[in-house]
Amino acid sequence: MTKIIEMSRTHPPLVPAIFDPEYRAAMNGVLSRFSPSEVVGAHRWMGTDADRQAGAAFTGRRLGSTPDAGRVIVTNGTQSAFNMLFGGLVGQGNVLAVERLTYPPILVLAKRFGFIPKGVEMDGEGIIPEALEELCRSDGPKALYLLSTLQNPTTATMSLARRQAIVDVARRYDLQIIEDDIYSLLPDDLPPPLSALAPERSWYMLGVAKTIAAGMKIAYVVAPNAALAEAQFWPGVRATFWMAAPISAAVSTQLIETGGTARIIDAVRQEMVARHRIVRPMLERTDFETKDGALHVWIRLPETVSAADLAVHIRERGVNIGTGDPYALPGEKAPQAIRIGIGHAKSHAELEEATRVIADSHDEFFRQQ
Ligand SMILES: Cc1ncc(COP(=O)(O)O)c(C=O)c1O
Repeated sequence: MTKIIEMSRTHPPLVPAIFDPEYRAAMNGVLSRFSPSEVVGAHRWMGTDADRQAGAAFTGRRLGSTPDAGRVIVTNGTQSAFNMLFGGLVGQGNVLAVERLTYPPILVLAKRFGFIPKGVEMDGEGIIPEALEELCRSDGPKALYLLSTLQNPTTATMSLARRQAIVDVARRYDLQIIEDDIYSLLPDDLPPPLSALAPERSWYMLGVAKTIAAGMKIAYVVAPNAALAEAQFWPGVRATFWMAAPISAAVSTQLIETGGTARIIDAVRQEMVARHRIVRPMLERTDFETKDGALHVWIRLPETVSAADLAVHIRERGVNIGTGDPYALPGEKAPQAIRIGIGHAKSHAELEEATRVIADSHDEFFRQQ
């Protein structure tokens, strides 16, 4: 079988020299502090007090201050939290405002829960406030799902002024904000999330998949207040599949408490600096968009070039990439563009090899125009 280099995912790079000893120490720490039967003998529900305090400290890194632990819910990853939030906050037949190009699972969940995703026009900073306001007037959405930092797939990141303008619209039209901040831990000097500006209506989600490890399946959700957190997530009310596996929740808590989380994030951040140094000069002939700390690059193509054909061409040369198509809303057309994940390649040599294939294939397609 020919080797395929995976560049379609936005996984963070592995940093085993730091991650492995930190994770081992955290696991050993959990097993020496607690009896295993205590750890895995029961559900952890929304998290133990210590889990929720750790989640408060972790999300506090971005929120600017540590939220009350009663507002925090420990979940089995962002995607599982979606199931509770979209079902409960939007509901059947109602509208969810999303970015015009949105994270594909939202579209799958829309079908499952019967809500209607409506796209809001974006520019280089993400959702445009006037376009959101227009949608609020015409369709009365219940909530807005967005990434204010390193939007997937475009890498658009909102300035503070843009964040404030979106919050202003949300307040005037009584929108709940479901903010997925999963890519926010690697860039430096970011403005605060919308959830820090409008905590009374925000559901803040901070998963560990893009910085610590995708397989840990942990995301912390911060609700507007403790009562709403319980109403939305308490397992007695709805299904329970969103709960974190206790051992993973316990290890994550231990990693946060000991500073291991911060050390792993620093190592991933450094590795991404090196990867950006490799990739950016190689793509300079393309119309690419990325930012420091981004795990992916978005490359726009002329509308006369087929992104799907280019992806097939690149795959035939041993590299798997994504196109904009899965991000388009039903009935809409994605712009011709490709998305390449730069964290997943196993080495710098592999990253360089794959990026060369992408850049050369891109040039070939351009010449054929
Ligand atoms: C925008 C966004 N949210 C969430 C996730 C996945 O989150 P989790 O692994 O916490 O379910 C991804 C992964 O690709 C993503 O791109």
